[in-house]
Amino acid sequence: MAERGKFIVFEGIDGSGKSTQVRILTEKLRQERIECYATMEPTDSPIGSLIHQIMTGRVSSDPKVIAALFVADRLDHLLNDVNGICKKIEEGTTVLMDRYCFSSYAYQSVDVPMDWVIGANRLGSDILRPDVNLFLDVDPELALERISRNRFDRELFEEKSRLVRVREKYIEAFERMKGEERVVILNGSKSREEVSADVWKIVKEVTG
Ligand code: ADP
Ligand code: TYD
Repeated sequence: MAERGKFIVFEGIDGSGKSTQVRILTEKLRQERIECYATMEPTDSPIGSLIHQIMTGRVSSDPKVIAALFVADRLDHLLNDVNGICKKIEEGTTVLMDRYCFSSYAYQSVDVPMDWVIGANRLGSDILRPDVNLFLDVDPELALERISRNRFDRELFEEKSRLVRVREKYIEAFERMKGEERVVILNGSKSREEVSADVWKIVKEVTG
């Protein structure tokens, strides 16, 4: 039987560089002939597209329903028979994921008590826990600078206070989950190359 693949999750506020690092790490692992699969949440499944419709304001919903939809999307991502990641990991593929449970703990707990969000996510986290959660820590101001050209100041201001809240919630969630989850906090404000070197060090520990 194949050795189990690793499950490596990237977390961080919007614009922290997660998708950039997933891309770089995918290439490095492939060069080392480690089979890997990169994916993200929310997914592009029917549940994920409902989430996108809610996030873009086309459909409205209670924050608890949104939190539950993220859980449902996550369960489908883990378990569906076409490209469910549990099966991939069992078959020996290393899975790199842009956002997982900690995104729910941080983002949904702005509107819903964090305990509720953590409880709801046990449905997924009991099935598959990351070998490591890599948190790319970036000052919200810098994250916004990276992502937000061509936007109005007022929007930027609102966005900044939201990201400040979310970053604080991430830190609170890491503290709460200390005994259960492996989290490594990396300085995401360095250059792409420096961050990817830091990521690589941790990934070597995990895969080695
Ligand atoms: P996320 O997936 O976390 O939202 P991205 O990887 O899409 O973040 O990065 C957001 C923007 O910042 C992109 O334009 C990307 O090219 C740029 N970027 C990513 N990492 C860095 C970095 N270390 N330094 C400078 N810019 C970066
Ligand atoms: P996306 O466009 O993929 O942004 P990013 O490139 O920053 O990851 O949208 C993801 C958004 O969904 C992001 O603002 C965070 C939010 N989100 C939650 O609120 N809860 C969750 O559980 C997940 C996975 C994402």
